[in-house]
Amino acid sequence: MFFLFATRTNISKKRVLLYGAGELGFVVKRVIMSDPRYGFHVSGFIDDDKSKQGKKINGIVVYSPSALSTEFIEKNRIDSLVFAIKSLSIDKKSSIIRKAVNLGLEVLDTPEVDKWVSGQLRLPQLRRVDLEDLLGRDPIKLNINLIKEGLSDKTIMITGAAGSIGSEIARQLTSFHCERVILVDQAETPLFFLQNELKEKFLDIRFRILPADVTNKARMEQIFKEYRPHIVFHAAAYKHVSLMEENPHEAIRVNVGGTRIVTDLSVSYGVEKFVMISTDKSVNPSSVMGASKRLCENVVQSVAQEGGHNTQFIITRFGNVIGSNGSVIPIFARQIESGGPVTVTHPEVYRYFMTIPEACQLVLEAGFMGQGGEIYVFDMGQQVKIADLAKAMIKLSGFIPDKDIRIEYIGLRPGEKLYEELVTDHEKTIPTHHEKIRKALVEEIDGELVLEKIDTLLTDLYSLSNMEVVNLMKDLIPEYHTTNGNFKFNQKAV
Ligand SMILES: NC(=O)c1ccc[n+]([C@@H]2O[C@H](COP(=O)([O-])OP(=O)(O)OC[C@H]3O[C@@H](n4cnc5c(N)ncnc54)[C@H](O)[C@@H]3O)[C@@H](O)[C@H]2O)c1
Repeated sequence: MFFLFATRTNISKKRVLLYGAGELGFVVKRVIMSDPRYGFHVSGFIDDDKSKQGKKINGIVVYSPSALSTEFIEKNRIDSLVFAIKSLSIDKKSSIIRKAVNLGLEVLDTPEVDKWVSGQLRLPQLRRVDLEDLLGRDPIKLNINLIKEGLSDKTIMITGAAGSIGSEIARQLTSFHCERVILVDQAETPLFFLQNELKEKFLDIRFRILPADVTNKARMEQIFKEYRPHIVFHAAAYKHVSLMEENPHEAIRVNVGGTRIVTDLSVSYGVEKFVMISTDKSVNPSSVMGASKRLCENVVQSVAQEGGHNTQFIITRFGNVIGSNGSVIPIFARQIESGGPVTVTHPEVYRYFMTIPEACQLVLEAGFMGQGGEIYVFDMGQQVKIADLAKAMIKLSGFIPDKDIRIEYIGLRPGEKLYEELVTDHEKTIPTHHEKIRKALVEEIDGELVLEKIDTLLTDLYSLSNMEVVNLMKDLIPEYHTTNGNFKFNQKAV
């Protein structure tokens, strides 16, 4: 998304610092100064190169990065910082962005040269930095050859394909030579949009769009029979904690029942690899949603343990992805747009964050590790304080938190925790060949017994009360420790 500058006519000039006094800095300076309609004034360059600092280049002073101080910014009435530098590490850039945003500056970035229009940089192409720049994530290094080989000439099925994770896996598959990609989702309209996007952007004819409910065994069997997928990415799920807290039957029917059907069919139809997308909320779960995903993991592990099949079952577990459907970031963005307040559950609530492409790249990488039966946990970096995230988003939008836009604390909702964990107290992790993926050393489970209890729960589901459903979940997951006052099972400290 490009940032469109409002033209400034009778108002004072916007005072800009350019980060980078090299070749790109001069191009940006020329472009900024060339159109007086935008009313920009370049007040200085900032550069790390000591030999340039203190000198004037083209009549403009080069400062050291220490110019990013309250005193300097106020004295020189600086409004904006524009990055005009090619080689800056992601860590360094995000730390400069954080500093500038905290100083109340608008921060803009120059697009890569290959994105310039007909080889020319135009002012409206400068882009306002966003939260992903602020969080500063290093790009993921993928073992492309392994993935390429693993996907080559295969038929891939993605369940939940119209969702945030499923659709991004589909987009990433466009760079590999799969035979065919089967996109399964029950949500017809999002599926329709995905179909249009894949056709328009990728001109890709390998996709088959199939509206289907993963809990409908007959329909799913029809699909497995017709397309015979080699690899299944299972991302279909109900994921909203507060909704599932009030509707535990649906969490069990869709998440657990769906996983039970898709794992069984994968074995029956000789799927080579089954990759389940799980979540950090399944670890020491405090919510129905988290506990239901833990049961999905148990289903996958139990079926993996059963003999007599060649399907490799893999579980990938990670925390929140930035900007996924219904996640906190798009909600905050909407609240800021409508003037606030921004609602945060608790001042001390922390969450892990990853971008959707990052998470899906790691899903692909993890899918081609190991022998099956593993749980892979992604390194999400540091947990982020949600209150700080809200403040950063308000500042990035050019407002002052609690002055222009209020932050309101509304209390943790039933089922929510202050912190998420990526492994249970009983699980340890060991490294893999990929620095961002660790393997959880999972506890052995009695797969036969687990599947028997889960099947009984699924069969009896709609004759049970909410309380009976969560009690049966608790029986299967001793470490499930509800924070929902409506559910009072006899919990031991775990
Ligand atoms: N979004 C995150 O931050 C995040 C982080 C970690 C793990 N995950 C996990 O990834 C999975 C997908 O999450 P998402 O963010 O893409 O959610 P999403 O809601 O965007 O996508 C889920 C998709 O599953 C589909 N679906 C639901 N029930 C179905 C059914 N019965 N049959 C067929 N399709 C069905 C929905 O229509 C939706 O398109 C979830 O299991 C979630 O727990 C998500």
